[in-house]
Amino acid sequence: MRRPFIAGNWKLNKSIDAASALAQKIVEGVTPDMEVDVTIAPPFTALAAVREVIESSPIALAAQNCYPEARGAFTGEVSPLLLRDAGCQYVIVGHSERRHLLNESNDFINRKVRAVIGSDLHVILCVGETLEERENGKTFNVLSKQLKECFLGVPASVSQQITVAYEPVWAIGTGKTATPDQAQEVHCFLRDMLDRNFGGEASKIIPILYGGSVKPDNIAALLAEPDIDGALVGGASLKAEDFLALIRNALGM
Ligand code: PGA
Repeated sequence: MRRPFIAGNWKLNKSIDAASALAQKIVEGVTPDMEVDVTIAPPFTALAAVREVIESSPIALAAQNCYPEARGAFTGEVSPLLLRDAGCQYVIVGHSERRHLLNESNDFINRKVRAVIGSDLHVILCVGETLEERENGKTFNVLSKQLKECFLGVPASVSQQITVAYEPVWAIGTGKTATPDQAQEVHCFLRDMLDRNFGGEASKIIPILYGGSVKPDNIAALLAEPDIDGALVGGASLKAEDFLALIRNALGM
């Protein structure tokens, strides 16, 4: 089994002080003997403060988004190079909130994926179908298009820098989780797609996280599935007690 990977996506939440306090509690709760990779994604404004708090801990720093250009006249945008400078090791790309609220296309997300990898950072690519797409039997078509188009031009040699997060849009922030069976069916399909896209070895290395209303009480059943390697957690990552309980339950502690 791949080592469990738990990522907390704080979205548009937490002032600098609140983010530092939450990060401090996570540092205290995740001890180096725990066989888990943990990363947290605060808002941009709190990256520097959180970086200081987690500096000598095993917790990694992630950004929630980036712009695909390295520098230039792009008011309000942040490049992967600047995120690396700010101490990030991971960048989340293609989150459904950005796809839907900001109309981000697979093509634009592909540029971001390549920019993140080209800046020696690790990308967490989110994919997922809407409820309408699922009900119309289009889940696998949508996912295969997202994966293919978002990884266009990305070689298998960088697979160590890639994580995929399956986040069914209908399960994000709604309290509706995909059942472990539903999630496993899709993860298995995605693993197969990665195999076709990058070749066998890469598809074994690339972690596939599940996201969408993951909580301390459903993480263990999800992780028991062979192709679910961890979770991208929104709501339950905003309180240290919940996030730490989720990590402990992921490890069966
Ligand atoms: P949620 O969010 O855990 O609050 O459903 C998950 C995500 O959007 O990454």
